[in-house]
Amino acid sequence: LHSPRLHPSILSADFARLAEELARIPSADAVHVDVMDNHFVPNLTLGLPVVQAIRAATALPLDIHLMIADADRWAPDYAEAGAESVTFHAEASGAPVRLARELRARGSRAGMALKPATPVEPYLDMLPELDMLLLMTVEPGFGGQAFLDVVLPKIRRARAALDGAATPLALQVDGGVNRDTIERAAEAGADTFVAGSAVFGADDPDAAVVALRDAARH
Ligand code: DX5
Ligand code: ZN
Repeated sequence: LHSPRLHPSILSADFARLAEELARIPSADAVHVDVMDNHFVPNLTLGLPVVQAIRAATALPLDIHLMIADADRWAPDYAEAGAESVTFHAEASGAPVRLARELRARGSRAGMALKPATPVEPYLDMLPELDMLLLMTVEPGFGGQAFLDVVLPKIRRARAALDGAATPLALQVDGGVNRDTIERAAEAGADTFVAGSAVFGADDPDAAVVALRDAARH
């Protein structure tokens, strides 16, 4: 029903060779870029200058995942950098409706992410303001963690709400996605899948992209 999309996370790529790593995943539907500030999450990755360099280094759409505090202040800059979508955390935004509108006004799709223990119900009324809902299936901050099955019921409830929404939204999962867990996430209703270690840890990352996307169809 929902044609699955596979977004490799470059968090598991070689940061010293990003352009070469991006060239290894031509079948990807978008590149997932994890921005961490050592404040919202206990890890530090990259920021706007590197996102701008990535934008120039690939023709693939950029799916920016902001794990940063004060998203209201910083997220619009990433839309300006030419991202296809910018996803902020609900827990890090004081004015998520205003921020989502700001992102769309700057030409990006608006995404909102929820940590595993954050309920989706308080946000259901603002779904029309969003193009994507990201349900984290690990605690954000690091690649290579195990998929949290405890999030599956929330994915099912979000799927039901999205099916009733007036405008189409993507339902993304991020964290611990591999050949095994992607089937459970897809069955629960996710349609957009982030995978870091399962792609860049493979001998052939592009074959892993294709195989993961195929596994999400079953
Ligand atoms: C974690 C990041 C993820 C991470 C996923 O906070 O948001 O995008 O790269 O890595 P894997 O697929 O290895 O769990
Ligand atoms: Zn991510």
